Parts: sequence; C-alpha cells; structure tokens
Amino acid sequence: MNYISIQNIDSLNKWVKEALKIKKKPLKNKKLGKNKTLGMLFFNSSLRTRLSTQKAALNLGMNVMVMNFTSEGWTLEFEDGAIMNSGASEHIKEAAAVVSQYCDIIAIRAFAGLVDKEKDNAETVLMGFLKYATVPVVNMESATGHPLQSLADAITMAEYKTEHKPKVVLTWAPHPKALPQAVPNSFVEMMQLQDADFVITHPEGYELNPEITKDSKIEYDQDKAFENADFIYAKNWSNYKEYGKITNSDPNWTVTADKMKLTNNAKFMHCLPVRRNVIVTDEVIDSENSIVIKQANNRTYAAQLVLQKILENGK
Ligand code: CP
Repeated sequence: MNYISIQNIDSLNKWVKEALKIKKKPLKNKKLGKNKTLGMLFFNSSLRTRLSTQKAALNLGMNVMVMNFTSEGWTLEFEDGAIMNSGASEHIKEAAAVVSQYCDIIAIRAFAGLVDKEKDNAETVLMGFLKYATVPVVNMESATGHPLQSLADAITMAEYKTEHKPKVVLTWAPHPKALPQAVPNSFVEMMQLQDADFVITHPEGYELNPEITKDSKIEYDQDKAFENADFIYAKNWSNYKEYGKITNSDPNWTVTADKMKLTNNAKFMHCLPVRRNVIVTDEVIDSENSIVIKQANNRTYAAQLVLQKILENGK
C-alpha cells in the first residue's frame, strides 16, 4: 500500500474515526513498528511534516532515518536512458532501490518547481521513487498534493463538526512568494468526499486545475463566499493558468476580523506556516475561533494512521 493522494483513502469517514481513536491512545500500537524503519527524504523545508511524521513513526515503535536530500544527497537523474555526462550524479533507479534496502517505508517531500507545469504535473520525484522503490511510499507533499495535510484537516473538522451540514470555504489570500497548489488541491479532493456545502473563493484567474476542482463551487466574491460559513480555510497559491506567477497580491483578500463577522462564527484554519497580517490578521489567528495549532497537532495522527495501515498491510 502507498499513500500518494487522497484517492488512496477508501472511506474518509472511516479513516477519520480511526485517526481519532489513535489520538485517544497514541501508544497502543507501540509494538507494530518494532524493527521497521521509516526513511524520510526531504527535497524541501519542513517543520510540521518532518516532526509529526517522525513522532507518528516513534509512536508505532519504528526507527526513523531523515535525510535532507537537496543538501546531503547526490543530485538525481530521473530520465530513463539519460546519458549522465553532466549535472546529476546518481539515477533514481539505483537511489530508490538502495534506499528500499535500508527502509521499510519511504516518505518523500518534493515540491513543485513552478516553472514547468507539465513536469510538475508529472510528479517526477514522487513517481520516480514510486516506480523504482520496492517498499511502500508516502507523499509528504509533492508537486500537486499534500494528502497528509488534508487528512489532518478532515480529522480537525470532524472534531468541530456542526449539527447541520457545514459550509466550508477555501479562500485564496495574498502572499509575497509564489506558492504551489498542492495544499489547496488535496483540500479540494478531500472536501469532495465530505457531505458539506463547499465553496472555493479566489480572484478571477486564480482557478486551480479544473481536473481537480471538477464541479466544486467557485465564488469570486470573497464576502459572499464567507456568508454563514462554518469553516474558513485560508491558503495562498500561485496562478495555475499563468503557471507559477503572482498575478494578484490584493490585500483586500487578507482574512480579517470584519470578514470573519460575515460567517456563522466560523473556525479559522490554515495548514501553516502562515504569513501573519498578509494571509490573516493577528486578530483572527489569535482569536478563540482559530484552530490552526490543533490542526497541526492532528498531523501526527493522520501520519500515524497512514503508517499503521501500511505496516498492517505488510504483515
Ligand atoms: N503544513 C505543513 O506541511 O507544514 P511544513 O511545511 O512545516 O511541514
């Protein structure tokens, strides 16, 4: 079993319930991972993913090896048949096969480069490991998806579930740097599995990949989208059509206390790290309705559920 995307979840409802059970007794399966090793390979920076996934593995009794691949590993070649007479020192064929001998599960973080849309959509690094590794692979955020994050988001929303069908709003917010679409993509895919009134709001031109958003509702008026919302999930992403570009940095899209007043006393969510007073004002993120720290805590239980399922599957 691999965990590459939200599509690997057979029943979101069931997985969320199982994760909440793990959260109650995180050390219950401490023996499951005995003598098993998780190898975590990072091609990009991380705080939450690195520590929560490591903690999840330790809760299961696993050994953990972490490698910051970009600074510590050989530069990899991903093209089959490449004549490697410049640049890359090692082919993914050998790298993935070798790491598979040291680890029982390989977890990979490799973001979008945001230069070549086709290359990012092909998920070169993640798919390279998936093709040549001989052990299960976990996506710790790839070019187009962050399924551990959105599983944690689903767990968090379940903890704050409303009596009525919730209105959930994914809102774009400005950011000084061009960011990938991975988090919103997986959030959209996860929301498509929920019984909710789900709305995506962003400036015109900032549409996500239509193959992912499918028939999810898009509202270009942020104030209108916020009306009666139960959850506000803020995130920046760079332009998908004008690939990787920042074509809008309008501060009117920042989530403010006035905008939150339009909602049904909504909870505020963000995957973190967050730029304060750019994405969201201090007043909102420091308010009682902000659940971003609890959301980050649930990253451990999302990762632990995934690792547990892989370990059980491998028995
Ligand atoms: N949300 C998230 O993935 O955080 P990190 O980038 O710090 O791992």
